[in-house]
Amino acid sequence: MIFLQMGFEEMPTNNYVESSFWNFDALFQPQQHPARDSHDTFFLRDPSTTKTLPEDYVERVKQIHESGGHGSRGYGYDWKREEANKNLLRTHTTAVSSRMLYALAKKPFEAKRYYSIDRVFRNEAVDRTHLAEFHQIEGLICDRGLSLGDLQGVLHDFFSRLGMSKLRFKPAYNPYTEPSMEIFGYHEGLKKWVEVGNSGMFRPEMLLPMGLPEDVTVIAWGLSLERPTMILYGIDNIRDLFGHKVDLSLIKSNPICRIGL
Ligand code: PHE
Repeated sequence: MIFLQMGFEEMPTNNYVESSFWNFDALFQPQQHPARDSHDTFFLRDPSTTKTLPEDYVERVKQIHESGGHGSRGYGYDWKREEANKNLLRTHTTAVSSRMLYALAKKPFEAKRYYSIDRVFRNEAVDRTHLAEFHQIEGLICDRGLSLGDLQGVLHDFFSRLGMSKLRFKPAYNPYTEPSMEIFGYHEGLKKWVEVGNSGMFRPEMLLPMGLPEDVTVIAWGLSLERPTMILYGIDNIRDLFGHKVDLSLIKSNPICRIGL
């Protein structure tokens, strides 16, 4: 609702199964990155590989990983198509953002604001604050001349509408954003700062092979849905909020939120 009020369009997230290409390679994440290990990612046994990828774009992604271009030196390794073909359960909804930006780059440029809220999967040990499935709130703004100030501005706007008006940003690292910032929100009840997400400006190594104009910038973020909810409702075990251990009376006694347009 907040995103709609802020002029965002929803991205189609109805594919849990994604190829490594869109989940990692298109995002300039090197093939030997630890997140691509089966300890962190659920790979599919059947069908284990994707059938189609856009060949000309795949070639440009291979180039940028191997030897760079557009002023970048790349990673200097042997990029393997078989690795990109592998199917997985998407580890972040940024895979959807990469598909959307690629689709956008095929048409004459138009500024866009996109958001999504949907499920992602990580092969993690389950504990009070971690589940192997959780939800991300993803967003991006694609336009000319955007800066880090714009990114901080929209995030402030979004979180203050949610009732969290104190935010802090900490420099971070993602293979696909530069600069990158972790986002912390101040929880008045707990009187402490909690991490609520990650963000940044997409790298030219991601955007230029897609074919977006050189002067287009994209600011983006991925936020946890469960973390702020736990904070807001005083839930200290994620398994009480989502998954097969949820107390059904919690579901029955809490109102559903429907968004009508
Ligand atoms: N994909 C990142 C994550 O899963 C979040 C993110 C999205 C960071 C977009 C930067 C830009 O943590």
